[in-house]
Amino acid sequence: MGAVIIDGKKISDEIKAELKAEIDQLKSKGIVPGLAAVLVGSNPASALYVKMKARACQQVGIFSDVIIKDNNFTHARMIDLVDDLNNRDDIDGILVQSPLPGQIDEPAVTFRIDPGKDVDGFHPVNQGLVLAGRPVFEPATPLGILELLDRSGNNPSGKEVVVLGRGLLVGRPLAVMLSVKSNIANATVTVCHTGTKNIAAHTRRADIIVAAMGKARFLTGDMIKPGAVVVDVGTNQIDDPTHPKGKRVVGDVDFDSVKEVAGAITPVPGGVGPMTIAALLKNTVKACRIRRGIS
Ligand code: GUN
Repeated sequence: MGAVIIDGKKISDEIKAELKAEIDQLKSKGIVPGLAAVLVGSNPASALYVKMKARACQQVGIFSDVIIKDNNFTHARMIDLVDDLNNRDDIDGILVQSPLPGQIDEPAVTFRIDPGKDVDGFHPVNQGLVLAGRPVFEPATPLGILELLDRSGNNPSGKEVVVLGRGLLVGRPLAVMLSVKSNIANATVTVCHTGTKNIAAHTRRADIIVAAMGKARFLTGDMIKPGAVVVDVGTNQIDDPTHPKGKRVVGDVDFDSVKEVAGAITPVPGGVGPMTIAALLKNTVKACRIRRGIS
Protein backbone atom coordinates (compact mmCIF):
# COMPACT_ATOMS: atom_id res chain seq x y z
CA MET A 1 0.00 0.00 0.00
CA GLY A 2 1.28 3.45 -0.89
CA ALA A 3 1.76 6.26 1.62
CA VAL A 4 -0.66 9.13 2.17
CA ILE A 5 0.73 12.19 0.38
CA ILE A 6 0.70 15.14 2.79
CA ASP A 7 -0.49 18.15 0.81
CA GLY A 8 1.54 21.10 2.13
CA LYS A 9 0.01 23.41 -0.47
CA LYS A 10 -3.54 22.67 0.75
CA ILE A 11 -2.60 23.10 4.43
CA SER A 12 -0.74 26.33 3.68
CA ASP A 13 -3.81 27.62 1.81
CA GLU A 14 -5.88 26.98 4.97
CA ILE A 15 -3.37 28.96 7.06
CA LYS A 16 -3.33 31.77 4.49
CA ALA A 17 -7.14 31.96 4.58
CA GLU A 18 -7.00 32.29 8.40
CA LEU A 19 -4.33 34.97 8.12
CA LYS A 20 -6.29 36.88 5.48
CA ALA A 21 -9.29 37.08 7.85
CA GLU A 22 -6.98 38.33 10.61
CA ILE A 23 -5.36 40.90 8.30
CA ASP A 24 -8.78 42.11 7.08
CA GLN A 25 -9.59 42.84 10.72
CA LEU A 26 -6.31 44.76 11.14
CA LYS A 27 -7.04 46.70 7.96
CA SER A 28 -10.44 47.74 9.33
CA LYS A 29 -8.40 49.48 12.07
CA GLY A 30 -6.17 51.13 9.44
CA ILE A 31 -3.23 48.76 9.97
CA VAL A 32 -1.46 47.03 7.08
CA PRO A 33 1.35 44.59 7.97
CA GLY A 34 4.46 45.09 5.83
CA LEU A 35 7.25 42.72 4.79
CA ALA A 36 10.49 43.76 3.07
CA ALA A 37 12.17 41.02 1.04
CA VAL A 38 15.77 41.65 -0.01
CA LEU A 39 17.30 39.71 -2.89
CA VAL A 40 20.97 40.23 -3.78
CA GLY A 41 22.48 38.70 -6.92
CA SER A 42 21.16 36.43 -9.62
CA ASN A 43 20.66 33.04 -7.95
CA PRO A 44 17.57 31.74 -9.85
CA ALA A 45 16.29 29.64 -6.91
CA SER A 46 16.52 32.63 -4.55
CA ALA A 47 14.75 34.86 -7.10
CA LEU A 48 11.95 32.29 -7.35
CA TYR A 49 11.59 32.00 -3.54
CA VAL A 50 11.37 35.79 -3.15
CA LYS A 51 8.77 35.97 -5.93
CA MET A 52 6.69 33.26 -4.24
CA LYS A 53 6.94 35.03 -0.87
CA ALA A 54 5.84 38.35 -2.41
CA ARG A 55 2.93 36.66 -4.18
CA ALA A 56 1.84 35.03 -0.91
CA CYS A 57 1.93 38.45 0.80
CA GLN A 58 -0.32 39.81 -1.90
CA GLN A 59 -2.79 36.91 -1.46
CA VAL A 60 -3.29 37.60 2.25
CA GLY A 61 -3.09 41.41 2.13
CA ILE A 62 0.42 42.01 3.51
CA PHE A 63 2.22 44.97 1.91
CA SER A 64 5.41 43.60 0.38
CA ASP A 65 8.41 45.63 -0.71
CA VAL A 66 10.78 43.52 -2.81
CA ILE A 67 14.25 45.09 -2.96
CA ILE A 68 16.57 43.68 -5.61
CA LYS A 69 20.30 44.47 -5.69
CA ASP A 70 22.93 43.27 -8.15
CA ASN A 71 25.78 40.82 -7.48
CA ASN A 72 28.25 43.63 -6.68
CA PHE A 73 26.22 45.15 -3.86
CA THR A 74 28.72 45.86 -1.09
CA HIS A 75 28.59 44.76 2.53
CA ALA A 76 28.56 48.39 3.74
CA ARG A 77 25.57 49.24 1.54
CA MET A 78 23.81 46.09 2.72
CA ILE A 79 24.21 47.19 6.33
CA ASP A 80 22.85 50.65 5.41
CA LEU A 81 19.87 49.01 3.72
CA VAL A 82 19.09 46.89 6.80
CA ASP A 83 19.34 50.01 9.01
CA ASP A 84 16.92 51.80 6.70
CA LEU A 85 14.44 48.89 6.87
CA ASN A 86 14.83 48.68 10.66
CA ASN A 87 13.76 52.34 10.82
CA ARG A 88 10.87 52.21 8.36
CA ASP A 89 7.48 52.44 10.01
CA ASP A 90 5.63 50.66 7.16
CA ILE A 91 7.85 47.56 7.52
CA ASP A 92 7.10 45.00 10.26
CA GLY A 93 9.22 42.14 8.95
CA ILE A 94 12.56 41.93 7.15
CA LEU A 95 13.63 38.96 5.11
CA VAL A 96 17.08 38.81 3.54
CA GLN A 97 17.11 35.87 1.17
CA SER A 98 20.00 33.50 1.81
CA PRO A 99 22.60 32.79 0.39
CA LEU A 100 24.19 36.22 -0.13
CA PRO A 101 27.17 36.85 -2.47
CA GLY A 102 30.58 36.21 -0.88
CA GLN A 103 31.55 39.87 -0.34
CA ILE A 104 28.67 40.25 2.13
CA ASP A 105 29.19 38.94 5.65
CA GLU A 106 25.89 37.10 6.04
CA PRO A 107 25.95 36.52 9.83
CA ALA A 108 26.75 40.24 10.33
CA VAL A 109 23.67 41.12 8.25
CA THR A 110 21.50 38.73 10.26
CA PHE A 111 22.78 40.24 13.52
CA ARG A 112 22.01 43.76 12.21
CA ILE A 113 18.29 43.09 11.65
CA ASP A 114 16.10 44.43 14.46
CA PRO A 115 15.11 41.23 16.38
CA GLY A 116 11.55 42.63 16.50
CA LYS A 117 11.45 42.55 12.69
CA ASP A 118 13.33 39.24 12.30
CA VAL A 119 10.43 37.21 10.88
CA ASP A 120 12.85 34.54 9.59
CA GLY A 121 13.81 33.87 13.22
CA PHE A 122 17.55 33.77 12.40
CA HIS A 123 18.78 36.51 14.76
CA PRO A 124 20.65 35.07 17.79
CA VAL A 125 18.22 36.82 20.13
CA ASN A 126 15.32 34.94 18.57
CA GLN A 127 17.30 31.68 18.43
CA GLY A 128 18.16 32.15 22.10
CA LEU A 129 14.52 32.75 23.00
CA VAL A 130 13.62 29.46 21.29
CA LEU A 131 16.27 27.67 23.36
CA ALA A 132 15.05 29.42 26.52
CA GLY A 133 11.52 28.15 25.88
CA ARG A 134 10.22 31.70 25.33
CA PRO A 135 9.94 31.89 21.55
CA VAL A 136 8.81 35.05 19.75
CA PHE A 137 9.84 34.44 16.13
CA GLU A 138 10.60 30.79 15.46
CA PRO A 139 12.48 30.02 12.22
CA ALA A 140 9.99 29.68 9.39
CA THR A 141 10.81 26.20 8.05
CA PRO A 142 10.82 24.37 11.42
CA LEU A 143 7.67 26.27 12.41
CA GLY A 144 6.02 25.25 9.14
CA ILE A 145 7.02 21.60 9.70
CA LEU A 146 5.50 21.51 13.21
CA GLU A 147 2.28 22.98 11.87
CA LEU A 148 2.29 20.57 8.92
CA LEU A 149 2.65 17.55 11.24
CA ASP A 150 -0.08 18.81 13.56
CA ARG A 151 -2.59 19.75 10.86
CA SER A 152 -2.04 16.50 8.90
CA GLY A 153 -2.87 14.38 11.96
CA ASN A 154 0.74 13.39 12.68
CA ASN A 155 1.30 15.07 16.03
CA PRO A 156 4.86 14.17 17.16
CA SER A 157 4.04 14.08 20.90
CA GLY A 158 5.50 10.92 22.45
CA LYS A 159 6.97 9.80 19.11
CA GLU A 160 10.54 8.91 18.14
CA VAL A 161 11.64 11.54 15.64
CA VAL A 162 14.88 11.45 13.66
CA VAL A 163 16.09 14.73 12.16
CA LEU A 164 18.63 14.29 9.38
CA GLY A 165 20.89 17.37 9.29
CA ARG A 166 22.05 19.87 11.89
CA GLY A 167 22.00 23.06 9.80
CA LEU A 168 21.35 26.44 11.43
CA LEU A 169 18.20 27.15 9.41
CA VAL A 170 16.37 23.84 9.84
CA GLY A 171 17.90 20.80 11.60
CA ARG A 172 19.32 22.43 14.72
CA PRO A 173 16.34 24.65 15.65
CA LEU A 174 13.85 21.96 14.62
CA ALA A 175 15.43 19.44 17.01
CA VAL A 176 14.93 21.89 19.87
CA MET A 177 11.41 22.86 18.82
CA LEU A 178 10.32 19.21 18.46
CA SER A 179 11.56 18.32 21.92
CA VAL A 180 9.97 21.13 23.97
CA LYS A 181 6.98 20.37 26.16
CA SER A 182 4.04 21.63 24.10
CA ASN A 183 0.87 20.31 22.48
CA ILE A 184 2.43 20.10 19.02
CA ALA A 185 5.94 18.91 19.96
CA ASN A 186 6.96 16.80 22.99
CA ALA A 187 8.88 14.27 20.88
CA THR A 188 11.98 12.19 21.58
CA VAL A 189 14.48 13.54 19.07
CA THR A 190 17.64 12.12 17.54
CA VAL A 191 19.77 14.30 15.26
CA CYS A 192 21.85 12.50 12.61
CA HIS A 193 24.64 14.25 10.70
CA THR A 194 27.91 13.65 8.85
CA GLY A 195 29.44 12.32 12.08
CA THR A 196 26.73 9.68 12.58
CA LYS A 197 28.15 6.17 12.04
CA ASN A 198 25.03 4.24 10.99
CA ILE A 199 22.23 6.57 9.95
CA ALA A 200 19.93 3.76 8.79
CA ALA A 201 20.05 2.17 12.28
CA HIS A 202 18.47 5.38 13.60
CA THR A 203 16.00 6.04 10.79
CA ARG A 204 14.68 2.44 10.96
CA ARG A 205 13.59 3.07 14.57
CA ALA A 206 11.86 6.37 13.84
CA ASP A 207 8.12 7.05 13.83
CA ILE A 208 8.78 10.37 12.06
CA ILE A 209 11.80 11.32 9.93
CA VAL A 210 12.60 14.85 8.80
CA ALA A 211 15.20 14.89 6.02
CA ALA A 212 17.06 18.22 5.92
CA MET A 213 20.65 17.45 5.06
CA GLY A 214 20.76 18.70 1.47
CA LYS A 215 21.64 15.40 -0.24
CA ALA A 216 19.49 14.47 -3.22
CA ARG A 217 17.35 11.34 -2.63
CA PHE A 218 19.47 10.24 0.36
CA LEU A 219 16.70 8.53 2.36
CA THR A 220 15.55 5.35 0.65
CA GLY A 221 12.70 2.92 1.35
CA ASP A 222 14.99 0.30 2.94
CA MET A 223 16.04 2.86 5.59
CA ILE A 224 12.61 3.37 7.14
CA LYS A 225 10.12 1.51 9.30
CA PRO A 226 6.81 0.54 7.65
CA GLY A 227 4.22 3.23 8.36
CA ALA A 228 6.73 5.96 9.27
CA VAL A 229 5.90 9.59 8.51
CA VAL A 230 8.52 11.21 6.26
CA VAL A 231 8.98 14.96 5.87
CA ASP A 232 11.25 16.08 3.03
CA VAL A 233 12.89 19.50 3.41
CA GLY A 234 15.36 19.07 0.53
CA THR A 235 15.40 21.06 -2.70
CA ASN A 236 18.23 19.72 -4.86
CA GLN A 237 18.56 20.36 -8.56
CA ILE A 238 19.57 17.25 -10.54
CA ASP A 239 20.25 16.69 -14.25
CA ASP A 240 17.39 14.95 -16.02
CA PRO A 241 17.65 14.67 -19.81
CA THR A 242 14.01 13.49 -20.00
CA HIS A 243 12.84 16.82 -18.52
CA PRO A 244 12.17 19.75 -20.91
CA LYS A 245 14.68 21.96 -19.01
CA GLY A 246 17.28 19.17 -18.72
CA LYS A 247 17.09 19.32 -14.92
CA ARG A 248 14.56 19.11 -12.12
CA VAL A 249 14.25 19.56 -8.38
CA VAL A 250 14.20 16.55 -6.04
CA GLY A 251 14.16 16.32 -2.26
CA ASP A 252 16.46 14.60 0.24
CA VAL A 253 14.06 11.64 0.09
CA ASP A 254 13.92 9.04 -2.65
CA PHE A 255 10.19 9.55 -3.08
CA ASP A 256 9.48 6.49 -5.24
CA SER A 257 10.98 3.89 -2.89
CA VAL A 258 9.98 5.61 0.39
CA LYS A 259 6.32 6.05 -0.57
CA GLU A 260 5.97 2.25 -0.84
CA VAL A 261 6.98 1.78 2.83
CA ALA A 262 5.97 5.02 4.60
CA GLY A 263 2.58 5.74 6.13
CA ALA A 264 2.70 9.36 5.00
CA ILE A 265 5.14 11.49 3.02
CA THR A 266 5.51 15.11 1.91
CA PRO A 267 6.21 15.72 -1.79
CA VAL A 268 8.81 18.08 -3.31
CA PRO A 269 7.56 20.50 -4.49
CA GLY A 270 4.27 21.03 -2.64
CA GLY A 271 5.22 19.83 0.84
CA VAL A 272 7.41 21.85 3.22
CA GLY A 273 8.05 24.77 0.80
CA PRO A 274 4.54 26.28 0.97
CA MET A 275 4.51 25.74 4.75
CA THR A 276 7.72 27.78 5.14
CA ILE A 277 6.02 30.66 3.35
CA ALA A 278 2.86 30.33 5.47
CA ALA A 279 4.99 30.42 8.64
CA LEU A 280 6.80 33.53 7.38
CA LEU A 281 3.46 35.29 6.82
CA LYS A 282 2.32 34.23 10.29
CA ASN A 283 5.49 35.67 11.85
CA THR A 284 4.98 38.91 9.90
CA VAL A 285 1.46 39.38 11.27
CA LYS A 286 2.79 38.57 14.75
CA ALA A 287 5.58 41.15 14.33
CA CYS A 288 3.01 43.72 13.24
CA ARG A 289 0.84 43.08 16.30
CA ILE A 290 3.77 43.26 18.73
CA ARG A 291 5.40 46.34 17.18
CA ARG A 292 2.11 48.25 16.95
CA GLY A 293 0.89 47.14 20.38
CA ILE A 294 -2.19 45.22 19.20
CA SER A 295 -3.18 42.25 21.38
N1 GUN B 1 17.23 30.48 2.05
C1 GUN B 1 16.80 29.22 2.17
N2 GUN B 1 15.77 29.16 3.06
C2 GUN B 1 15.58 30.42 3.51
C3 GUN B 1 14.65 31.00 4.43
O1 GUN B 1 13.81 30.34 5.05
N3 GUN B 1 14.78 32.34 4.61
C4 GUN B 1 15.71 33.08 3.96
N4 GUN B 1 15.77 34.39 4.23
N5 GUN B 1 16.57 32.57 3.11
C5 GUN B 1 16.50 31.25 2.88
